[in-house]
Amino acid sequence: MIYINKINFDKKITYDKPVPCYIESDNLILKGPLHEHWNLGNFHRFQTSYCGDEMAKYNLYIEPTSLKYTRDNMYKYMIEQWNEMEDMYYVIEEKQERSNYNYDYIGVIGLNFEWDKKYAEFGIWLHKDVWGNEYFAQSFESMCEAIFNHPLDLGIELISAVPSSNNKNSIRAIEKIMNELNGQLDGVIRNYEFFDGIGVDDCHRFSISEDEFKNRY
Ligand SMILES: CC(C)(COP(=O)(O)OP(=O)(O)OC[C@H]1O[C@@H](n2cnc3c(N)ncnc32)[C@H](O)[C@@H]1OP(=O)(O)O)[C@@H](O)C(=O)NCCC(=O)NCCS
Repeated sequence: MIYINKINFDKKITYDKPVPCYIESDNLILKGPLHEHWNLGNFHRFQTSYCGDEMAKYNLYIEPTSLKYTRDNMYKYMIEQWNEMEDMYYVIEEKQERSNYNYDYIGVIGLNFEWDKKYAEFGIWLHKDVWGNEYFAQSFESMCEAIFNHPLDLGIELISAVPSSNNKNSIRAIEKIMNELNGQLDGVIRNYEFFDGIGVDDCHRFSISEDEFKNRY
């Protein structure tokens, strides 16, 4: 299955910080940085909706209790990290409007660059209303395309995804796209710290190299 017909990341590239800011695929548009598209209040409302618990369960967010908490922690962190080009956050827009859906965006992507190790770690949190559409696969593939085929060589050789070993949906979603793209399960990392200072858990580490991605079909 090919998830992507159209990649459109040349519409907006920030050349002083050369990370793709706009990535369009069949059903989705990924837009970064998150804070330029989602103000603090709207981001907080999304986080504290019922899907916030689902997102918090598998980390990245710990459950946000107040607007102040979100501002002083997650939102502030996202702005700082984008400016440092370390941990880049994107909003995910669904191209087709969804009825009975109250938010501008359907989720968040985080791309954590380990520049010295030449890899980036991909994470995604989708609103529960959109689960089951293989949006993980679509956004992962389009992000690989944008990074590995970036007009400026970013020097990133590997893109990984490292879900908690308890996160069966995520493992299932990643297995499907890794099989499709010729990536692999590297193994289980015990007591992996998957977000600075927040927690440890055993994690499955999957990855795909630039060569594997370019020779995928
Ligand atoms: C993990 C996640 C990103 C998967 O994305 P997705 O686009 O829904 O992935 P898929 O459509 O490929 O579905 C993967 C599996 O989730 C399960 N699933 C799908 N829709 C579901 C739903 N509505 N309710 C419960 N489980 C569901 C199925 O087991 C599915 O596997 P299958 O296709 O073999 O049946 C998404 O569930 C999510 O955002 N979860 C909360 C945050 C999170 O865990 N992020 C990952 C951090 S690494």
